Amino acid sequence: MLPRFIVIEGLDGSGGTTQVARLCAWLAENGARDVVSTREPSDGPVGRFIRTALADTQPATRLADNVFPYLFAADRRDHLDRVVLEGLGRGACVVSDRYYHSSLAYQSLSAGLHAVAELNHGFRAPDLTVVLDLSPEVCLQRILARGGTRDRFEELARLRQVRDAYDAVVVLCRTRGEAVVRVDASGDRDAVFEQIRAHVSPLVFAS
Ligand code: TYD
Repeated sequence: MLPRFIVIEGLDGSGGTTQVARLCAWLAENGARDVVSTREPSDGPVGRFIRTALADTQPATRLADNVFPYLFAADRRDHLDRVVLEGLGRGACVVSDRYYHSSLAYQSLSAGLHAVAELNHGFRAPDLTVVLDLSPEVCLQRILARGGTRDRFEELARLRQVRDAYDAVVVLCRTRGEAVVRVDASGDRDAVFEQIRAHVSPLVFAS
């Protein structure tokens, strides 16, 4: 099996974390000797700081939206070098729950797509990006059903804006020649995974 960098993207509540786990398990069961399951915000120092900052609701300490593009880009540099490129270099398949497409979608709302694209210039493109398509209404239902803290991107109006932003991101990335596919994420987990598997198989088994 070839070492590949695969990214799963989509709105909060669209099922990305579940599908990353499914994909990693499938890769391991089908001959990948080394599979790296990872995510952004990462588990490194900048990523951990971002998770804390996203959950902060105190007016005195809460970071403004225009700070986040820099934080996510700094985390990405660290995550790419320390986890993704390191894994690919030793022959692993690397699957990431989110990557720069999340910044291009979420941070473009406050900073604009052009500025966020500039900040993310030069990061290695994935070999395949899968965008999970699910309506903001269903995403919000799932977010509310699972409980937990709502972060600043999880209001319905915001989710709708992010959905529209993802549409622009897909167009931009395809224009740059990147492999980006959209998958209908409204079915059950198996149905969604089957679509992902159909896109990943030719990529990892290609000679
Ligand atoms: P996520 O991993 O989806 O959250 P959870 O811990 O609930 O599974 O990511 C946290 C949030 O960060 C999510 O709302 C999307 C957002 N995000 C950005 O705004 N920009 C980025 O570049 C990334 C990677 C994530």
